[in-house]
Amino acid sequence: MAHDAGVPLVVDATLATPYLARPLEHGADIVIHSVTKFLGGHGTTLGGVVIEKGTFDWGNGKFPQMTEPVDSYGGIKWWDNFGEYGFLTKLRSEQLRDIGPALSPQSAFNLLQGIETLPQRIDAHLANARIVADWLESDPRVAYVTWAGLDGHPHRERAAKYLPLGPGSVFAFGVAAEDGRAAGRFSSRTSSSPRISRTSAMPARSSSTPPPRRTASSRKSSSSPRECAPT
Ligand SMILES: Cc1ncc(COP(=O)(O)O)c(C=O)c1O
Repeated sequence: MAHDAGVPLVVDATLATPYLARPLEHGADIVIHSVTKFLGGHGTTLGGVVIEKGTFDWGNGKFPQMTEPVDSYGGIKWWDNFGEYGFLTKLRSEQLRDIGPALSPQSAFNLLQGIETLPQRIDAHLANARIVADWLESDPRVAYVTWAGLDGHPHRERAAKYLPLGPGSVFAFGVAAEDGRAAGRFSSRTSSSPRISRTSAMPARSSSTPPPRRTASSRKSSSSPRECAPT
């Protein structure tokens, strides 16, 4: 669909990590990761990664910011001058220059140390997710569990195709209470500021979880008070 529309397919593979998902092999043009989560693994260091396959046609007429001369760089054109490296060169040259999100050497070291243990940690996260999902599914106080590793999940086959080692370890479940008070009691006993995929696992209640800049009405409309997610 993205290619029919002449736009790149961008996949946020943060929660799967490259250990579980390889979106470029399934047609994605750009993959992004928040390295702050599973890749870093310790919740100590912020970082992000953008990977471009290099085969998307940025010269298809829809991306003047890639094809028009750039005044601040003497009139070069990202696509004409750098071809398959054009998008990432633009990202480095303009975003790093204007916003400054360069990784410090200490941050790079911390993140690399986390990445060294990625397979072992993800295997453990998957095993834990299965235990928690099975347990939740068998509990009558739980209305539903959305983990794609469970029999009967509508995306189980698709997950097995794209994520053959397992569908990750972040999923949602709903508490079987009409008024949401059960979820409130549950979440009041858990952290109000969970960080996805540290070395520990934790549940979060979506309607009361940061970012704090969300308004009360956006929290109300974007999630059910009965939903929680182990992270
Ligand atoms: C799936 C996913 N992608 C991206 C982000 C953004 O991460 P960061 O705040 O490190 O940019 C998050 C944050 O929770 C996330 O869950």
